[in-house]
Amino acid sequence: MKKFDKTILVTGGAGFIGSHVLRLFVNKYPQYQIVNLDALTYAGNLENIKDLEGKDNYVFEKGDIRDKNFLKNFFEKYNFDGVIHLAAESHVDRSIENPLAFVETNVIGTVNLLNAAKEAWKDNFKDKLFYHISTDEVYGSLGKTGLFTEETPYDPHSPYSASKAASDHFVRSYHDTYGLPALISNCSNNYGPNQFPEKLIPLFVHNIKNNKELPVYGDGQYTRDWLYVIDHARAIDMLFHQGKPGDTYNIGGFNEFTNIDLVHLLCDLMDKKLGREEGSSRKLIRFVKDRPGHDKRYAIDASKINRELGWKPSVDFEEGLSRTIDWYLENEEWLNRVTSGEYQKYYEQMYKDR
Ligand code: NAD
Ligand code: DAU
Repeated sequence: MKKFDKTILVTGGAGFIGSHVLRLFVNKYPQYQIVNLDALTYAGNLENIKDLEGKDNYVFEKGDIRDKNFLKNFFEKYNFDGVIHLAAESHVDRSIENPLAFVETNVIGTVNLLNAAKEAWKDNFKDKLFYHISTDEVYGSLGKTGLFTEETPYDPHSPYSASKAASDHFVRSYHDTYGLPALISNCSNNYGPNQFPEKLIPLFVHNIKNNKELPVYGDGQYTRDWLYVIDHARAIDMLFHQGKPGDTYNIGGFNEFTNIDLVHLLCDLMDKKLGREEGSSRKLIRFVKDRPGHDKRYAIDASKINRELGWKPSVDFEEGLSRTIDWYLENEEWLNRVTSGEYQKYYEQMYKDR
């Protein structure tokens, strides 16, 4: 008798969003076997999911989606019913330094995974699903008004968003050409615990704590739509179970902030939490050279997923931001280790006898 109802592959589960998705699925669905495939790049950290180690329905496999031979054997080893694909190079600034790394993982890696799924499922696509996690950045940049809908034409500007757009096109093409049951969601900026401190919020929390300068790009008048990471994981759960293959869904926070307003809020909250004089953290702000190709404004119209599945954000922004700051302040060791590469040693130690 089969021990589990389904076996689901989550790629990139040691990263920021992937770790929250894994935790939700492993705990909520004991009847599913959840396999986490991650290459453990600088952004992948097994400490993020330490609490899942040893769970009966959870398996970690170290592997690289750029390696198609590895994927072929891997799909033969596990008889996957579904794939939730999060593994990616995810930082815009890094993509400006090294675009090819983004093509290799985000485009070629995704096509490798699509091929592996298509081959493994070729006799029967029924009840299978390839779910690709994408970003609102594929839509480009908005003016002062308007929202990204699922019909907004793609217009990426950074090598990161271009690579995500290309991967989305490939996923859609595998659905349309081969009938592979595939779905895509495009989400706005996530924030929360376990985000690598190269991204705005964790970087600035770290810098405020250590009285270091806060490098705000350009004039700081760039707008992002922020969503608490656990609300994204909830949306992924709903879409995996109830989304329509072939469809695209936008996910967002209905929560726009200019970077400078967000940084001010962060400074004021941190002053209170650290018992510092009001206004002292704002003095750390420095306006620095802008990011090339910097998109002016992102804002998501998430009415489709709300209408069809009843999803909406559950965590209010100030509450989520406050929780997030508390997490980083309480997990200073985590922050020190990920910034020092110590967590690679943790991996070697944890897995040396396996
Ligand atoms: P992250 O950088 O924190 O994590 C990425 C994970 O993928 C890491 O664990 C890394 O080790 C793994 N990985 C990278 N290259 C790999 C490879 N070649 N093979 C196997 N594993 C590999 O990223 P994140 O912020 O958690 O983003 C996850 C996904 O969600 C990405 O696809 C990203 O484009 C998308 N997304 C992110 C946001 C956001 O705000 N962070 C918003 C919308 C969509
Ligand atoms: O919109 C979804 C995207 O959000 C995801 O697809 C990406 O993976 C994720 O990294 C994020 O991209 P952004 O470029 O919006 O995030 P980042 O945290 O890098 O920057 C947020 C804003 O803050 C952006 O306008 C650039 C600005 N910024 C960022 C950093 C790191 C600064 O002003 N200073 C900084 O030091």
